[in-house]
Amino acid sequence: MSLLLTIVTVVLSAYIRLAEVGIGCEDWPACYAQLNPATEKKGITVLTEEGQQMAHYGARVAHRYIASVLGLLILVIYLVALRQGGKRSTGLLVPTALFAIMVFLSLLGYYTPTRSNPLITMGNLLGGMSLLGLLWWMMQREVDTGEVSGSVCSFRPLALCATLLVSLQIVLGGWSSANFASASCPGLVTCEGEILAAENVSGAFNPLREVRLDDSGAVIRDDALGLLSMAHRLFALLTAGYLAWLVRKLKSESALRTTVLALSVCSIGQIVVGVTTIWLDVPLLLLTLHNVLAACLLLASINLLHRLTPAKGSALPR
Ligand code: HEM
Repeated sequence: MSLLLTIVTVVLSAYIRLAEVGIGCEDWPACYAQLNPATEKKGITVLTEEGQQMAHYGARVAHRYIASVLGLLILVIYLVALRQGGKRSTGLLVPTALFAIMVFLSLLGYYTPTRSNPLITMGNLLGGMSLLGLLWWMMQREVDTGEVSGSVCSFRPLALCATLLVSLQIVLGGWSSANFASASCPGLVTCEGEILAAENVSGAFNPLREVRLDDSGAVIRDDALGLLSMAHRLFALLTAGYLAWLVRKLKSESALRTTVLALSVCSIGQIVVGVTTIWLDVPLLLLTLHNVLAACLLLASINLLHRLTPAKGSALPR
């Protein structure tokens, strides 16, 4: 139940966040990222129709209630784990991490309206994805018995590397989005300005960088933003290339058929959606779908890692 609620919360949270910063607004990219409350509505002209406003309002209310129930469920999971001590196969570490992330996200909720601070946006996105990944890992280790055995388990380090690459790609996408970078690269491979200038490289990845607003509340675009968006697009090639290579290596393993299929579908789907998103001037629903597929890709790579990890008590492959 917690896993299902987390999936819904992650999707709703992405939709609300992206709608509120004006993703996909008409007059793109001029209308994008107008964060001053007085001008915020201008940035979401796509929601002017009553139905879309209702959807936004409905998403906010649903997010609040579902996240509250999720918080209670995670508290229960944590308390049960505490009572059972280290007897569970995931021990105390995962339930404790789940509880800590939930507390962190609840506190962050108070600050979330401050969308001009990229670290807060990142905390929200990565906190949600971490909850999802950990719950999925815990559920599989406790309930699923789909672990494979034998020599195929020697691929485990490669599966771990796939999970790390997908996670890093999610961090890059989130950082790019939190800094409103996509508007600086309207073409698939073209950006405004000198994106490779040395000061941009250090500025773009400075975790303490702040979004600068002009008097009207619109984001001031600098060349470092283009670098951020392009880094995310180029790293996608590395991630997808690595996954394609891994899938090729594992495709003859009949026991891993569904996992390999899920990895292939999510990875190809994500590239197609990413490229289409740019071609269509970053529509809100498509970028929300991009977020959903990022979550699916994370789940698929964690599933591969789980299946290649021998159950507790069984001998580790050499
Ligand atoms: C392995 C593949 C990929 C993953 C896991 C991934 C993940 C993400 C994530 C998590 C976000 C943040 C969305 C949000 O703000 O909620 C994002 C944003 C974005 N992604 Fe990707 N992505 C991938 C590939 C691509 C590709 C191939 C493209 C296009 C060439 C692309 C274009 C974008 C764009 C335009 C944004 C909006 C953020 C911005 O740059 O301002 N992504 N991605």
